[in-house]
Amino acid sequence: MTPQAASSELRSAQAAEALGRPDALRRYAETRAASLALTEGLSAEDMQVQSMPDVSPTKWHLAHVTWFFETFLLEPRLAGYAPFDPAYGYLFNSYYEAVGERHPRPRRGLLSRPPLADVLAYRAHVDTAMARLIETADEAAWSEIAPLVELGLNHEQQHQELILMDIKHVLWLNPLAPAYRPAEPAERAGAPALDWLDFDGGLVEIGHDGAGFAFDNEGPRHKVWLEPFRLASRLSTCGEYLAFIEDGGYARAELWLSDGWDAVRREGWTAPLYWREGDDGERLIFTLEGLRSLDPAAPVSHLSHYEADAFARWSGRRLPAEQEWETAAQFPGLPQMTGVLWQWTASPYVAYPRYRPPEGAIGEYNGKFMSGQMVLRGGCAATPSGHARITYRNFFPPDARWAFSGVRLADDA
Ligand SMILES: [Fe+2]
Repeated sequence: MTPQAASSELRSAQAAEALGRPDALRRYAETRAASLALTEGLSAEDMQVQSMPDVSPTKWHLAHVTWFFETFLLEPRLAGYAPFDPAYGYLFNSYYEAVGERHPRPRRGLLSRPPLADVLAYRAHVDTAMARLIETADEAAWSEIAPLVELGLNHEQQHQELILMDIKHVLWLNPLAPAYRPAEPAERAGAPALDWLDFDGGLVEIGHDGAGFAFDNEGPRHKVWLEPFRLASRLSTCGEYLAFIEDGGYARAELWLSDGWDAVRREGWTAPLYWREGDDGERLIFTLEGLRSLDPAAPVSHLSHYEADAFARWSGRRLPAEQEWETAAQFPGLPQMTGVLWQWTASPYVAYPRYRPPEGAIGEYNGKFMSGQMVLRGGCAATPSGHARITYRNFFPPDARWAFSGVRLADDA
């Protein structure tokens, strides 16, 4: 197979008009409502908890995405806009140095004030003003506003996934192991056989081509040389990972990167995050539907990069480079490439050739995090539908396990 034909099809599918005002209003309303819909089963107390420094309270997420619209659109561009509360700039700025000082991330759970009701009123205040901005901006202003509305909506969708990631960790640390949502009837079937898909490699193109929305870190599109490679036809399963555990995977230093082995010993890892042993020795797994018995056919999730890498080494394989993953994803129809679990790659999160972050505070969105993190590809079941692309580059530190992260094996052809 060669990717060129599939690639041009992909480019035309991605071609999209610039955001028009009716679309902006509709998508703004839908995206904001979707965030609130995620909180329907949560109490104000649930939304207050910060279970570790990496986790943000649901209430903070709801306020921070609102702050983004207020700070980057309403304050600079809507005449006469009065901020809801001047103190919120300090409380809900995440990491934008250009915008000023901020409340320390590990202490977000201490913000018992403002209460949830005030955060919801903040959202309503900003929503009203955003509708006015979208409807009344003159044409010249709109051409500058539209890309920022698009960015703000995509930013809020990223936080929708973070709300689910974070509340899962919060509920996991509650000794009652409460469910985030009611359990669906469990459908269990064996995993399909693992096949190997061969790719020619050669000179390929990856990265976003600029048609339609993408985050800055997805481009520029550029050429890379790939040796022939193979990719597993599906994600690795809990059953396969259990075989790694039972073969002493967490006790064999030779399977681990040095930093990974340090993490195993320091953190006392013996299984993926959210695995637990029941009283009768049964293996249980904590999900957004509460504790369930482990399904050996389900894709294994909540692995760190170190665990994914050690499992791949134990399997006699390796993780795919992100360039291999994206090249394979250009062929339609490959199972479980998108929307199941983020897939760890062997690639460090660094800039593509000729990448330049945007000017100003928005340039801090992605570019300054290009150090010490690894790339994940594919989106997951918690990613809002339509949010991700095959060029999408997620990134986490290699010891992070609370994202919905799994593993797809690769190999040299
Ligand atoms: Fe953010």
